[in-house]
Amino acid sequence: MKETDYADRDGLIWFDGDMIPWREAKVHMLTHALHYGGAAFEGQRAYNGKIFKLEEHTDRLFKSAEILDYTVPFTKQQINDACYEVLEASGYANAYLRPGAWRGTEMLGLAARGAGVHAAIACWEWPAYFSLEARLKGLRLMMSQWRRPAPDMAPVHAKASGLYQICTHAKDKAERMGYNDALMLDYRGLVAEATGANVFFAKDGALHTPTPDCFLDGITRRTVIDLAREHGITVHERAIELDELDGFEECFLTGTAAEVSPVSEIGDYRFEVGDIAKTMMFAYTDLVQGTEPGTALKAAGQGA
Ligand SMILES: Cc1ncc(COP(=O)(O)O)c(C=O)c1O
Repeated sequence: MKETDYADRDGLIWFDGDMIPWREAKVHMLTHALHYGGAAFEGQRAYNGKIFKLEEHTDRLFKSAEILDYTVPFTKQQINDACYEVLEASGYANAYLRPGAWRGTEMLGLAARGAGVHAAIACWEWPAYFSLEARLKGLRLMMSQWRRPAPDMAPVHAKASGLYQICTHAKDKAERMGYNDALMLDYRGLVAEATGANVFFAKDGALHTPTPDCFLDGITRRTVIDLAREHGITVHERAIELDELDGFEECFLTGTAAEVSPVSEIGDYRFEVGDIAKTMMFAYTDLVQGTEPGTALKAAGQGA
């Protein structure tokens, strides 16, 4: 068994309303979601004991389930409380939480009506997705062979497990080839996002990011747009063609796991890890950590 086996850890998992030992949080092989990819899930981080944007994540979990045509069998308040129960039981102040909902074993045909719905929340320590060193050098992305599907081809606005099959495939290939991640275009050939994070570009002091009309409008994405505007940086949400990447000076990814991570390379395109990317990266760190603006910059040895 690998040292990192997620099934084999100490601790507690909230499972259908109860806190149960980590190793007992199991589902049956005939679980509907395992066969047809209909689980809804969230990824959220706690910083210094506080779960960042918890209510927005819980809202999105419920929205995802609704798009997938089922109802989470708990209230939002119960899920929010359970997230804190799991975090507190873990003893971690800084952690990653993974709530999820899925259809159970009562139906195994494609039609799912009648299947029970389950929900669970696990929590573990997960440091930066990309190290500070890697982020300051800039991530290297290749172009993904997979595209984000059209809104009438898949439930593109749900954080649904089935949509991640192509993301896993693209990210595995990228890592095998020595890259950090891959950039996905959409069904029209427009720039969409990375495999688990949104993308921003900077040019002439302004930010440009694709309109999220066929992929997740990330909570970090929206946070960064607000932060940028507070910093007086104009943000253009618009359709972005691939060949426009030639004219952009900077690029970064945003996501709960990735936080704000500058990018130095996407396929044949090159970017500098410049002032805007660094400003957003450190401003985001100060926001989630609850520290004074400028603290993260100084701690990284990047400022006065
Ligand atoms: C495919 C995809 N896009 C974007 C994001 C960023 O979303 P958020 O900022 O809400 O974590 C994520 C992460 O959940 C993701 O998996």
